[in-house]
Amino acid sequence: MTILVTGAGGQVGRELVMRAGQRALVGLDRSQLDITDAGALAAALSAHRVRLVINAAAWTAVDRAESEPDAAWRVNCDGPAALAAACAAAAIPLLHISTDYVFDGRSARPYDETSAVAPLGVYGRSKWAGEQAIRETLPKRHVILRVAWVFGAHGGNFVRTMLRLGREREALSVVADQYGAPTHAGAIAAALLSIADRYGAQATLPWGTYHLSGTPVTTWHGFAESIFAEACAAGLLARAPLVHPIPTEAYPLPAARPAHSALDCTLIRTRLGIEPTPWIAGLREVLNTWKRTP
Ligand SMILES: NC(=O)c1ccc[n+]([C@@H]2O[C@H](COP(=O)([O-])OP(=O)(O)OC[C@H]3O[C@@H](n4cnc5c(N)ncnc54)[C@H](OP(=O)(O)O)[C@@H]3O)[C@@H](O)[C@H]2O)c1
Repeated sequence: MTILVTGAGGQVGRELVMRAGQRALVGLDRSQLDITDAGALAAALSAHRVRLVINAAAWTAVDRAESEPDAAWRVNCDGPAALAAACAAAAIPLLHISTDYVFDGRSARPYDETSAVAPLGVYGRSKWAGEQAIRETLPKRHVILRVAWVFGAHGGNFVRTMLRLGREREALSVVADQYGAPTHAGAIAAALLSIADRYGAQATLPWGTYHLSGTPVTTWHGFAESIFAEACAAGLLARAPLVHPIPTEAYPLPAARPAHSALDCTLIRTRLGIEPTPWIAGLREVLNTWKRTP
C-alpha cells in the first residue's frame, strides 16, 4: 500500500517521512505537489499508485491569515476539498489534520469531538471549512485528527522561538492565561501512521473525527518554563531567563486565540487504541536532536 504525504516539508510532514520505516511512503512538499491543483493531485495519485493520503499541508500562520484570508482559505479549505475530491475519484481514504482553534476556548471542560465549534479567527474558520469539505465529499472514507500547539525539531515553532529568546535575554514575558496541550509533531506522525497501518491491515477504519494532544494541559508560560529547564539540562542554554507571566491583553496579536483549548482525547484512545503521550518526552527528543545537529 503506497501512502502519499502532502505538505511533506512541514513539521508533521517531515516526521511522517522520517518515521515511515519499511512502509511504502512518498512525501511531496509544496514545490512538488500543490494541494490546490486538482490536475496535479490526480496525476500524483495515479503515478505513485496511492492507496491512502495523509494531508500534512496547511496554512499555519495564524496571525497572517487575518491580513491574507484568501490565501489561508485556499490552502486550508480549497486544498482539502480538492484532495477529498481526488481521493473520492480514486476510491481511497484521506487522513487529514485539523486544529483546536476551531473552538472559541470559552468552555471550562476539554473539548470532545461532539463539542460545538466557534472559531475566533480566519485560520480556525478556514480549517473548519476544510474539515466540512472533507466530510461532505468523502463521508465514509476520512479521518480528521484535530491536534494542538504543535512543536517539532523541524520548522518554526514556540520551542525554537523560546530557545532563541532565552539565549538573547535575561527575562521575558509569556502569556499565562491561555490553556492548551503542546503536541509533539512526532507523536502526531506516529498516530497517523498507526491509523494508516490499521487501514492497510483491515481495508477499513472507524472513520470520523478524533482529538489528539500531548499531556498534561499547561499554559504558554508553563510550557516556556519547561522549555528553559529542559534546555539547561540538555546543555543547550547556560542559564534559564526569568519568565514573567502576563495576561493575553498585555501581548496583543492580530488573531484572537482560544483561552481554554484543551482537547478530550478519550475517543482516539478507546476506538483506535492511540494513547496521548506526555509532551515533555517530545520536548526532550526535540532538544536532543538540536544538541546533535543545532
Ligand atoms: N503548528 C501548530 O501549532 C498547529 C496547531 C494545531 C493544528 N495544526 C495543524 O497541524 C497540521 C500540520 O501543521 P505543521 O505545524 O506541520 O505545519 P507547517 O510546519 O506550517 O507545515 C505545513 C506545510 O504545508 C505546506 N503547504 C502550504 N501550502 C501548501 C499547498 N498549497 N500545497 C502543498 N503544501 C502546502 C507548507 O509549505 P511552505 O512552508 O513551503 O509554505 C508547509 O511545509 C496542519 O493541518 C495544521 O493546521 C498545527
